[in-house]
Amino acid sequence: MRRNTFLPFSRPDIGQDETNAVVDVLSSGWITSGPKVQDFEQAFAEYVCSPYALSLSSCTAGLHLAMNLLDLKPGDEVITTSLTWPATVNMIHLCGGKPVFVDVERNTINLDVSRVEEAITERTRAIIPVHFAGQACDLDGLRDICKRRGIEIIEDAAHAVGSEYKGKRIGSSDNIAIFSFHPIKNMTTGEGGMITTHDKETYDKLRLLRFHGVDKDAWRRYGKAEKEGYDLLIPGWKYNMTDMQAAIGVVQLKRLDEMTERREKLVALYDSLLRDVKGLTLPANVPYSIRHACHLYTLIVDKDKAGITRDEFMQEMKKLNIGTGLHFLAVHQLSFYKRHYPLPDGSLPETEYISERIVSLPLYSLMKETDVQDVVFAIQDILKRFKK
Ligand SMILES: Cc1ncc(COP(=O)(O)O)c(C=O)c1O
Repeated sequence: MRRNTFLPFSRPDIGQDETNAVVDVLSSGWITSGPKVQDFEQAFAEYVCSPYALSLSSCTAGLHLAMNLLDLKPGDEVITTSLTWPATVNMIHLCGGKPVFVDVERNTINLDVSRVEEAITERTRAIIPVHFAGQACDLDGLRDICKRRGIEIIEDAAHAVGSEYKGKRIGSSDNIAIFSFHPIKNMTTGEGGMITTHDKETYDKLRLLRFHGVDKDAWRRYGKAEKEGYDLLIPGWKYNMTDMQAAIGVVQLKRLDEMTERREKLVALYDSLLRDVKGLTLPANVPYSIRHACHLYTLIVDKDKAGITRDEFMQEMKKLNIGTGLHFLAVHQLSFYKRHYPLPDGSLPETEYISERIVSLPLYSLMKETDVQDVVFAIQDILKRFKK
């Protein structure tokens, strides 16, 4: 049906339990990092099966801390994908590293592991795979290369809360993984992030860097049992999550599987309704066993096939009261990176192809089946008008 109200691209699924949890914190007398943060970290560590989970103000903060741990020297390189949110690449640059882009696979939009080896030099320190849309990268393939070449893997798991790779949750492996709880993500804390690791020393260092580098966080400094005084062990940042955010996170995490199942149903409906629509390319599945978090549902709109460019398509969808998203424009083609790390056009052909044509359809657990039908109706209406 043609909609007469706007369908947003995303909307957080916040219920009464989340609201009550925040109100409880607000009236508890302690609203910054405290007992709720500890509860959330413990619950998250248990959920993903990792010994350590550290909450943060954002995934970007986690990427910053993880890059900082690498202690990059001028000329050190970090491999990643250009089809990501700029935060992934910004943190490499801001920590003194050189971002090196590897092309993605046209169909899955994940890093093309077969091209990683040729991008490695003696200056390569780490690789940041992004589990695009919530579909796990080929981690075994990457581990094989990285082990041989002595390179660290740092997973950008911003889209991958609830994702699994070969039966194990993303976040359970022994390398660092960093999650986002931004409001469009599968679960939210308003803003927020989480970093998981198996290594106690790494955890301790991240914990310090998260809160100024001071040996006691606020909860411990003001607690009755604590001794007076504090020390600064290393200069750090202020990236802690508040108890108000963590209270939302505790409830959202309990609901995560149910919310992901809802997304799975909506994705299956998109797949079945769009399968026979000519002119579009639907998202493809990886060939190994995963659980897709169904964070995004992306289409490729190619003017040669659809008769319309992606940008025109997004405008037409808006006219029909359907919001869409853009994940992502290739980072290496954005002004700053074009100036500082120039690459000739066509250097990353799949990334560039996708960047010009990709669009994300509305997808969130509060959506109804009829909303999906409305989106598909709008797409068909547009293609009828533009496709030759
Ligand atoms: C792939 C990717 N990495 C990192 C981030 C940054 O997450 P945050 O907004 O929590 O800092 C995002 C945000 O959307 C993202 O999509």
